[in-house]
Amino acid sequence: MAGYLSGDTRKVTTHRLIEMKQKGEKISMLTAYDYTMAQLVDGAGMDIILVGDSASNVMAGNVTTLPITLDQMIYHGKSVVRGVKRALVVVDMPFGTYQAEPYEGVRNAIRMMKETGADALKLEGGEEVIDTIRKIIGAGVPVMGHLGLMPQSINKYGTYGVRAKGEAEAEKLVRDARLLQEAGCFGLVLEKIPAALAARVAAGLTIPAIGIGAGGAVDGQVLVVADMLGMTQGFSPRFLRRYADLHTVITDAIGKYVADVKSSDFPNESEQY
Ligand code: KIV
Repeated sequence: MAGYLSGDTRKVTTHRLIEMKQKGEKISMLTAYDYTMAQLVDGAGMDIILVGDSASNVMAGNVTTLPITLDQMIYHGKSVVRGVKRALVVVDMPFGTYQAEPYEGVRNAIRMMKETGADALKLEGGEEVIDTIRKIIGAGVPVMGHLGLMPQSINKYGTYGVRAKGEAEAEKLVRDARLLQEAGCFGLVLEKIPAALAARVAAGLTIPAIGIGAGGAVDGQVLVVADMLGMTQGFSPRFLRRYADLHTVITDAIGKYVADVKSSDFPNESEQY
């Protein structure tokens, strides 16, 4: 058996991810935004932990990922890095920190790497940001790409629907994926695109393509931790498999605590000094 399940507890590197693709070993990736969750996710054997800018939604309650700041992503990144021993930690560069000008992107990328201690960064976009990506990689920072549905561009799309259903957008995505590989990205995320297109992209690359809502014929899968643990409600896209119902578990536990406090059942004799 390959990887973590065989007891291989070496730190995951970008090189190992590429080897995993070569061997046909699927790559597991999940988000985390804080120390406690990062320890749990890492301890369960995750290959990549993504400090996603979905922290904007999940942790801060924003409607989109756009408002989260560089300082806030650095805070989440640092907290996660402290809790991780084995997984590769990738932090999202937030909206507005790399789109305007390549050298601003490089400066922000360097700051994120220095202050978080993360292993790599993730940026959304293809051709439009390729010069910036080249320069960030040139500065020694490993970069993961992100194509398909790019939530930082939600105001351009107007909807979170499936991307690249038409031929022109699909062909652009295939070209962008190649560009990202040629620029030196060690992998990329494909979000919410037709499974057949994702399969074609993954098969045409030597770097791993990790899917979310992109079918099974890719090199790995990523989900948002709060969604797959059933902590969030009212978000049920077709691609989301819920592995637990923590909403019920947590609500029941907290409800019991409230009742125990109200009835003076808590604390009892053995729970005091
Ligand atoms: O921010 C995030 O959580 C992401 C994943 C959905 C891939 O980018």
